[in-house]
Amino acid sequence: MRIEELDSIITSIKSYLELEKASGVEEFYSCAAQDVATVQDGAAGGLAALRKEVLGCRECDLSRTRTNVVFGAGDPKAKLMFIGEAPGADEDAQGLPFVGRAGQLLTKIIEAMGLKRQDVYIANILKCRPPNNRPPLPTEILACRDNVRRQVEMIKPRVICTLGKFASQTLLGTETPISALRGTFHEYNGTKVMPTFHPAYLLRNPEDKKLVWQDMKKVMKEL
Ligand code: URA
Repeated sequence: MRIEELDSIITSIKSYLELEKASGVEEFYSCAAQDVATVQDGAAGGLAALRKEVLGCRECDLSRTRTNVVFGAGDPKAKLMFIGEAPGADEDAQGLPFVGRAGQLLTKIIEAMGLKRQDVYIANILKCRPPNNRPPLPTEILACRDNVRRQVEMIKPRVICTLGKFASQTLLGTETPISALRGTFHEYNGTKVMPTFHPAYLLRNPEDKKLVWQDMKKVMKEL
């Protein structure tokens, strides 16, 4: 085998392990293939199985244009879960949620709350990127809706923070504007939901950061 081929295999294995780790898989055993066992607790095991299922999803046309499925990442037992809209170009390229400019701002918000990204769980309503970042279509939302519902059921967060109009309205099944939804707790299948502005909106409207911070203080109090 040529050194370049070996290098490429090692890089692929590394990326795979990083994605597995980001999805909650904590340990691998190396042994005979039929005995391969991954040590996980309930939440991580369920999420890893769901992730595997979603990685092969062909329920809508976004599966034709995606580079990677962006399942979600973080602590499978997180008390706080963030839910955004859909992957953008950076997320599609890396297979991880909120890794572009908006993601960097989300990381800052999480850290300002005294947490790390690994302490929370970050997901999106849609798991695949809409071409040119166009708004998700109703058929795509319908096709993907169960995935986020099952993630929430497995993670059982104490609080969900929905980021922006699309995630908030979709999860809560309402057309109320985000400016009216944010700042108070709502409910999704028995879990408290705090809608707030999307970090991408904050990049364009930094004066509203203080409102998001007010919302995050309410979340911190609830946690
Ligand atoms: N915007 C989102 O809603 N989700 C991402 O993962 C990135 C940007």
